Amino acid sequence: MYTPAMLLRKFPEGFLWGAATSAYQVEGSWNADGKGESIWDRFSHTNGRVARGDTGDLACDHYRRMKDDVGLMRELGLKAYRFSLAWTRILPEGRIRPEGRGGVNVKGLDFYDRLVDELAAAGIAANVTLDHWDLPQALQEEGGWENRDSAEWFADYARVAFDKLGDRVALWATHNEPFVTASGYGGGVFAPGLSDAAAGYRAVHNLNRAHGAALRAFREGGSQSGRPGGGRAGKIGIVLDLHRLLPASGSEEDRLACERATDNAQNVFLHPIFRGSYPEALMDWLGRLAPEIRPGDLELCAQKLDFLGMNHYFTCRVRYDCRGGLLKLAQDFVSEPGMGKTELGWGINPSGLLEQLSRVAPLAAGIPIYITENGCAMRDEPDGEGYVEDSGRVNYLRRHLVELHKAIESGIDVRGYFVWSLMDNFEWAYGYEPRFGLVRVDYSTQKRTPKLSARWYSEVIQDNAVGE
Ligand code: FCB
Repeated sequence: MYTPAMLLRKFPEGFLWGAATSAYQVEGSWNADGKGESIWDRFSHTNGRVARGDTGDLACDHYRRMKDDVGLMRELGLKAYRFSLAWTRILPEGRIRPEGRGGVNVKGLDFYDRLVDELAAAGIAANVTLDHWDLPQALQEEGGWENRDSAEWFADYARVAFDKLGDRVALWATHNEPFVTASGYGGGVFAPGLSDAAAGYRAVHNLNRAHGAALRAFREGGSQSGRPGGGRAGKIGIVLDLHRLLPASGSEEDRLACERATDNAQNVFLHPIFRGSYPEALMDWLGRLAPEIRPGDLELCAQKLDFLGMNHYFTCRVRYDCRGGLLKLAQDFVSEPGMGKTELGWGINPSGLLEQLSRVAPLAAGIPIYITENGCAMRDEPDGEGYVEDSGRVNYLRRHLVELHKAIESGIDVRGYFVWSLMDNFEWAYGYEPRFGLVRVDYSTQKRTPKLSARWYSEVIQDNAVGE
């Protein structure tokens, strides 16, 4: 879909083009086949937590339409599909131990077994996230991510997934955006909906420990799956939300505010994982709110990763604000001239992707990076057939891919890119109104209709190139 006047930017051979979803946002069937309750089931069933009272009870009904959805991915030519496992489908009570308190739900695990088989048959690589926010409610009753035992619960669950699916999964991620998970304890916007700053930082530390414990379990290998070659064929990493943050001015207070914001949202994960330490300035600032770190914790967090997953949506300017809460700061979105904003009010600043990759790559110490999410909610207007000519989304994606290509040209080792999202879905506390999909979902009929952006993206994949 480019004209001869356009510059064609070719991506490296084997570049992994994909699209992403997550379990709670698309699967539905929230209590089918022995699935347990997750904190998102509880949260969305609690009055007033989610816009319009929307829930993920049905979502895109992907649990029952999985085969057709993989067929759609094949038609679009996707090379990879990023999805998450619902912990509560596999371990309804969250745990395999102690005996009698939980155990594996075979039907739930079978769903993912069939999904990875379908993907393999379609020639689509599986990129599996273990934790995309839907912690078992039974574990939340025991403190959830605030409880130090969560590292062990998570490693036990990860082992079940590795053993069953590990022979066919190309990429594993431990957590998706643990900063957002932790803000469900500290900031209350998302499940479990607690607003206790110290709890938020305890969750941060336990998420880092759980990540390390799952990595150890992965490296220990060993398969009980009985499949030939079963076990741990793929690579493992973590997915962090790494947006571009800039000081709003050259003033010292804005510079420090921006450092605090970066430490708080990004370095609290990047540093323990890649350096085995927490950002000191932030820990000092937090004082008694900082998490307790016990001997051995930091070694656990700093296991060697195979790749870093980076979710990237926007750029923000950070300024000092004396009324700006615990961290005394405020953030405003940046939009490149003429780019406007997305439906959620997020600024659009494609060059922030290149700048952010340049910041993160040295921290990631030479391991490959994947852009695991990038995309936008736009005001989609379907015609009578449900088709959406979403040229705004095409423009957003195209401009970001151009910046990504520049990053690769500059020597940054980016191996793949995943659009958020394959299809419209449940956008957490916003409910169903914001639409991020390449494919339109009519929620009254569950009909899927590829948008203009899906067609455009298919061509990008086919050409392994984007026109500038
Ligand atoms: C990310 C989430 C993803 C989706 C997008 C829009 O923060 O990982 O589930 O909601 O934002």
